[in-house]
Amino acid sequence: MQMSRSIFLICAFCLFGVIAAINNSSQRVCIIGAGIAGLSTARYLMEEGIQFTVLEATKYVGGTWRYDSRIGTDENGLPLHTSMYKYLRTNLPKPAMELRGFPLPQNIQSFPSGQVYYDYIQSYAEHFNLIDDIKFLHNVISVKRIDNTWKVKHKHVISGKEFEEDYDFVIIGTGHHSKPNMPNIPGENLFKGSIIHSHDYRVPDPYKQRRVLVIGAGPSGMDIGLEVCNVSRRLIHSHHSNINYRTPFPSHYIKKPDVKEFDETGVYFVDGTFEELDDVIYCTGFEYDYPFLDESCGLDIAKHSVVPLYNYVVNIKQPTMMFLGLVVRACLPPALDAQARYTVALIKGNFTLPSKENMMLDWQHRWNVLRSLGKPLSHIHFLGEKEDEYYAGLTKESGIDRVPPVIYKIRACDTEAKLENLYTYRSYTYTVLNNESFHRTVEKKLDQ
Ligand SMILES: Cc1cc2nc3c(=O)[nH]c(=O)nc-3n(C[C@H](O)[C@H](O)[C@H](O)COP(=O)(O)OP(=O)(O)OC[C@H]3O[C@@H](n4cnc5c(N)ncnc54)[C@H](O)[C@@H]3O)c2cc1C
Ligand SMILES: *[C@@H]1O[C@H](CO)[C@@H](O)[C@H](O)[C@H]1NC(C)=O
Ligand SMILES: *[C@@H]1O[C@H](CO)[C@@H](O)[C@H](O)[C@H]1NC(C)=O
Ligand SMILES: *[C@@H]1O[C@H](CO)[C@@H](O)[C@H](O)[C@H]1NC(C)=O
Repeated sequence: MQMSRSIFLICAFCLFGVIAAINNSSQRVCIIGAGIAGLSTARYLMEEGIQFTVLEATKYVGGTWRYDSRIGTDENGLPLHTSMYKYLRTNLPKPAMELRGFPLPQNIQSFPSGQVYYDYIQSYAEHFNLIDDIKFLHNVISVKRIDNTWKVKHKHVISGKEFEEDYDFVIIGTGHHSKPNMPNIPGENLFKGSIIHSHDYRVPDPYKQRRVLVIGAGPSGMDIGLEVCNVSRRLIHSHHSNINYRTPFPSHYIKKPDVKEFDETGVYFVDGTFEELDDVIYCTGFEYDYPFLDESCGLDIAKHSVVPLYNYVVNIKQPTMMFLGLVVRACLPPALDAQARYTVALIKGNFTLPSKENMMLDWQHRWNVLRSLGKPLSHIHFLGEKEDEYYAGLTKESGIDRVPPVIYKIRACDTEAKLENLYTYRSYTYTVLNNESFHRTVEKKLDQ
């Protein structure tokens, strides 16, 4: 009798332990930002019945996809987060821009406009009932690790009232296309014309019939460069990219090497040539910016790197903090969606992370490979050709559904089309046939 009772008690305890481990719905989770990263995470947490709070500094979802014609600060005095420009169209085709289980509308362009894509994110938030769970106008000002708990301080941007709460997990979805990376070129302040960063570029109109210099050949540099070239008298494009673009540029598009210095009327390039200019647009990228993160989070954060992260997501020093979207050269929406599912599977207790030592070894190995190739630390965030392998790895470790290989294949094909001709790559339609293959056709004209 006595015996069986204690066995019963022991079993009850075991059972309780197992249930506690499996049912992690009592975890307190804080999501910072209501862009694609924050919304996806919220969706999957909700599906698992795990409580969460989303803190969003603005009164909108969609982050950088929300176009705002203003520049500088918003009505509440916060720096405008968005870097969207009016006539932007996505630089990836529909299948690579879709969030899982929520197709983009049939009747839209293969490369949707920014506005159409923003509407899509809004309908995503509505469809999954996420809006009511977002604390809008709450700006996170500090995240600290104290006594094995995350202390998150946020400020209501209208009343100025501050709040502090304790959390078990912090998910950072604040994006990284907002704080301009400025090149700081000698003589900049002598120049009499206009200088802006692409963060503040909205429309091509001010550049009609002007002599414009665009610096940088990343996605923004190429895209804004062509958009401005379409209206400007001359378009000088200064960059040191060794990508072999075969686009037939118009005759008033002039490629130049890096800028050496400004004077009152224009710039000298490193090859000694000079160009007289009216306007300059810096398409020199963005900096990682986490002003709210306290030292106690244990990371090494620089302008172009956040390290060490496991799987590009988990803060190895404090593995209850995750960064979503800190990958470059990938299909961002599917990547964010997969990272959100990986994160939620982890919080749910579906899998456990390796030890800190092993995560560190894994990270160190990645960094060693880059170093041996002579690459800078910033490349630690590049997925590029490793994108599909990354998705396979996330699935293997966490059991989430795999992002199908066809997504990466579409991106690779689109990358080729961009090299071929930046004016025509958006005229292709990509149709997914199955997890492995797709079909590409030239798009019929749609009225939009
Ligand atoms: C001009 C431009 C064009 C792009 N085009 C493409 C494209 O064609 N295809 C593609 O895949 N990707 C594109 N991207 C990348 C784009 O960033 C991703 O598609 C995606 O929007 C990233 O989502 P996110 O949720 O990580 O960040 P974001 O969309 O930047 O959202 C971050 C959110 O966090 C909030 N926030 C920030 N700090 C705080 C704080 N302290 N407290 C509370 N809230 C805070 C912000 O207000 C914002 O709402 C483009 C980016 C830019 C800038
Ligand atoms: C160029 O300008 C024309 C006319 O304003 C416009 O229809 C077209 O979309 C523009 N092309 C680009 C690449 O911006
Ligand atoms: C966690 O595992 C359960 C059971 O296998 C599964 O139904 C659920 O979808 C998983 N959750 C995530 C986020 O992967
Ligand atoms: C396609 O991939 C999904 C998600 O990983 C998987 O559930 C499905 O079984 C796959 N379909 C085929 C035909 O392999």
